[in-house]
Amino acid sequence: MITKSILRYYVLCVYNLKKLKRSYDFYISMNTVSILMLTFSICFELSDGFFARTIRDGNGMTKTHLDITAAGTIKSIDKYIKSNKGFGSIDDFFSGDTNRKDTMMKKVFALRKAVADTQENKKDIAYIHCHADQIDLAHNFVKSCKQKLIARKNDLDEFITQLGECLYTIQSFYSNTNWVEMYGGKVYEEFGISTLMDVAALEEDTCLDNADYNSECKNNIIVNGKLTSGYHHRRGNTKPAKAIGSSTGKCSHGGPDDDSRKLVARCGINKDSLTPEWSPHSHLHDQAYSAAVQATENFLVANGTGVLKTIGSKLFEAIFHVERRKDMTLAMAIDYTSSMADDIDAVKQYVIKMLTNTVGSSNEPADYVLSLFHDPVTWNVAFRYTDGYAMINKVQTLETEIGNNRDCPEFAAAGILAAIALMRDDSPLLVFTDADSKDADRRQEVIDAANAKNISVSSLITSQCTRRKRSALGRSERSVSSLSFFQQIAKATGGNVHETDKENIGNVLETIIGEIFPSSEIIIDSFDWSVTETNDKNITVDGTIAVLKISVTGSSAQTDVDLYYANGTLETYTSGKSTRIYTSSGETIISIQHPPGSVVKLKRNVINEWKVNITAQSSIKIDSELLEKSDTGEMVSLKGSPISDNNYTVELSVYNLGPSGTCHKIKLTGIAGNVISSHETSQLRRDVDTLCAADFKMPKVKFQVKLYGKDDSGISFTRKLSEFHKPTSVELTVKASTDDVVLGKERLIGYEVLNRGTVTETYQVSISDDHSFVKGTTTVQYTLRAGDGDNGTFAVKPTTPSVILYVLLAVSLQQLLCYI
Ligand SMILES: *[C@@H]1O[C@H](CO)[C@@H](O)[C@H](O)[C@H]1NC(C)=O
Ligand SMILES: *[C@@H]1O[C@H](CO)[C@@H](O)[C@H](O)[C@H]1NC(C)=O
Ligand SMILES: *[C@@H]1O[C@H](CO)[C@@H](O)[C@H](O)[C@H]1NC(C)=O
Ligand SMILES: *[C@@H]1O[C@H](CO)[C@@H](O)[C@H](O)[C@H]1NC(C)=O
Ligand SMILES: *[C@@H]1O[C@H](CO)[C@@H](O)[C@H](O)[C@H]1NC(C)=O
Ligand SMILES: *[C@@H]1O[C@H](CO)[C@@H](O)[C@H](O)[C@H]1NC(C)=O
Ligand SMILES: *[C@@H]1O[C@H](CO)[C@@H](O)[C@H](O)[C@H]1NC(C)=O
Repeated sequence: MITKSILRYYVLCVYNLKKLKRSYDFYISMNTVSILMLTFSICFELSDGFFARTIRDGNGMTKTHLDITAAGTIKSIDKYIKSNKGFGSIDDFFSGDTNRKDTMMKKVFALRKAVADTQENKKDIAYIHCHADQIDLAHNFVKSCKQKLIARKNDLDEFITQLGECLYTIQSFYSNTNWVEMYGGKVYEEFGISTLMDVAALEEDTCLDNADYNSECKNNIIVNGKLTSGYHHRRGNTKPAKAIGSSTGKCSHGGPDDDSRKLVARCGINKDSLTPEWSPHSHLHDQAYSAAVQATENFLVANGTGVLKTIGSKLFEAIFHVERRKDMTLAMAIDYTSSMADDIDAVKQYVIKMLTNTVGSSNEPADYVLSLFHDPVTWNVAFRYTDGYAMINKVQTLETEIGNNRDCPEFAAAGILAAIALMRDDSPLLVFTDADSKDADRRQEVIDAANAKNISVSSLITSQCTRRKRSALGRSERSVSSLSFFQQIAKATGGNVHETDKENIGNVLETIIGEIFPSSEIIIDSFDWSVTETNDKNITVDGTIAVLKISVTGSSAQTDVDLYYANGTLETYTSGKSTRIYTSSGETIISIQHPPGSVVKLKRNVINEWKVNITAQSSIKIDSELLEKSDTGEMVSLKGSPISDNNYTVELSVYNLGPSGTCHKIKLTGIAGNVISSHETSQLRRDVDTLCAADFKMPKVKFQVKLYGKDDSGISFTRKLSEFHKPTSVELTVKASTDDVVLGKERLIGYEVLNRGTVTETYQVSISDDHSFVKGTTTVQYTLRAGDGDNGTFAVKPTTPSVILYVLLAVSLQQLLCYI
């Protein structure tokens, strides 16, 4: 029996800090590393099948794999929702909750990228593109997909990548074979499912020769009632030679990328585009498109045969984020004895951060419950608020109390019960304590009350008080009993127990609450406000913003910063729809619900070095990608780090921009918010989003991308992408297949390292993995002159079946340490 494990690679780059030091001293840090998805060969060549991403024939009506995947997937989700969720459409299902709908769209976008990337990643495998009459292989590949998908069900990213490969082949069938010529725009139901119809034999001529090979050649196919596809040179296949002057031969794919079109039988059959020069069968492009969209839908949700049936509803919903907003309570029960001071501080900070982000938006919890417990039980008290600002005010005033009872345990059960009584059904309760429960005998009562309302009770336990007691009472006994009360409740109610240090409470909260109440804020802008600048800053606020949040660090009181509307009016925070808070961590936060769309002015009343972050809840969202251009002009996603001074394209998929929305400029900004370069954008409205793109030369410093445009009502907007792009001058290219690895067999992972800088450098290339499957050498050192490179290999040998193996290849600069 052969068992396979799945291989997945990453590249880790340590940036060329030495070069950066000259202009950016403050940038030097040992920790400037980033993990990036890897990198196959970056010498890109050809395009094939439908166009992957960009419309290379210049016709805006040409449909690419991106369009097909988006259309087919959205249709599938729509169908799923109609037949399983009792709603009439996707929009009904999400009912105005754009955030959750956008998260769904993000999944669709991830899938369409995976489909498009397959064209490049699998460029040398003919059957993936249904080329060279290898349609049987393509058919069997699609048949094997469902098992491959099941194997990846615990890693949604890998699942999407695999699904992308499967859909790529399914879609390519309609552009690259003669199916559409025979049957028009309908789906071939058996493809990838049951028995394939006849395919032309190897020695069988399939096309008429046509000397005019750069144009349309309708009716050139000569086989009847069987499938055939075109050959495509430099795509893992070579067209069988025919004598010059022969009138028939094998078909070609056709188009400028395919030199086989010049060999008998000349011309081609692809339906990739609407332009004859690119697609000899361009007249069938629309039919190929419709069939490919329908085939995409069928592969996902067709009754009886779709992926949905294989993976089940739960996974399908997780993959596409088919999830409706639930009105849930954000509930906390907090031990407020004096030892809890740090915990309470962390809770305060977190709650303020989260609420100022979401209050007034569809991401806001439906209501809030705060239960405070202590010893004696008469000190317990619980509150419920529907107004987020009221909750913030209450949390702001939380103080710990030294009780008159000097022992550790508190009346936690009473505190939990009080919270449950005030909470909505189906909501999570978080308990914060560092001690035992003094009323642990009420455990069953707590479990029953929680289960009656389907409330999960999770606890965050910090250790201070337990430790104090341990020394007095004998350690193991104490800690076991302290955990068991909370653990038993968690177990019986579907919650968790998180033991954490006080310093880590914020992070733990972020993970737990961020998951249940996602805030999905977008960044409007972020910048350093130095003392030498003017004391006014204009901020662009568009008409789509549900909550605007301005955070200032470096201020020392909330009155240090004021906000003025375009009409000159000062915001006074008295409307009940806005607030301004100075937090215990030294940050001033302004939060405003539904601000009028126009420029507002931020005024600094006390001059200090400030850092300003402006975020919002808004429907206009952006997904971004850096692309590089292949030799033939197709755009492929950048794998690994971008190289200084190379040319790249940034593509922004802007959604919910509205029919009249426009984008104008893309700027690259440095870590202080300074503009590094500014670029005109090109804009293309697509079915599901608007594409805004610009070409740029990679700067030598790290940068973010900022988009400027106008929303649907003509009001200016800005959006900044959170991701930082960091340049490097060393290029690491990994050359290995990510196909499944056979258990017990060695897989070589080749790489090429190139010095793309201007001086000689010494690099270390190393490999590591999460299953200790790496065999032999793990680090190799290279001294390379500018422009030079070298090749090497590492080996992995899987010894455990059915795992996803994460391999990390890293290149680091040897001299790094000398400069720190
Ligand atoms: C799906 O297939 C089942 C069994 O073949 C059938 O009962 C059901 O009506 C079909 N549903 C749809 C929507 O076609
Ligand atoms: C209980 O609550 C969880 C979390 O909100 C929810 O997913 C689940 O469907 C609920 N169960 C029932 C039976 O309502
Ligand atoms: C801010 O905007 C106002 C009016 O829109 C303009 O007069 C002023 O010059 C701008 N200020 C800055 C610092 O750009
Ligand atoms: C100025 O604009 C703000 C925000 O829209 C509004 O609340 C205020 O009433 C306006 N003031 C005047 C004088 O028009
Ligand atoms: C501003 O936002 C960035 C990125 O989201 C974050 O790392 C930083 O901590 C934020 N700064 C403040 C002052 O909130
Ligand atoms: C980048 O593009 C510019 C202008 O199109 C061109 O002159 C330059 O050679 C390109 N640089 C690289 C490294 O390809
Ligand atoms: C690495 O190997 C490839 C393929 O064998 C070759 O084309 C390339 O020139 C080599 N690179 C270096 C830097 O030796």
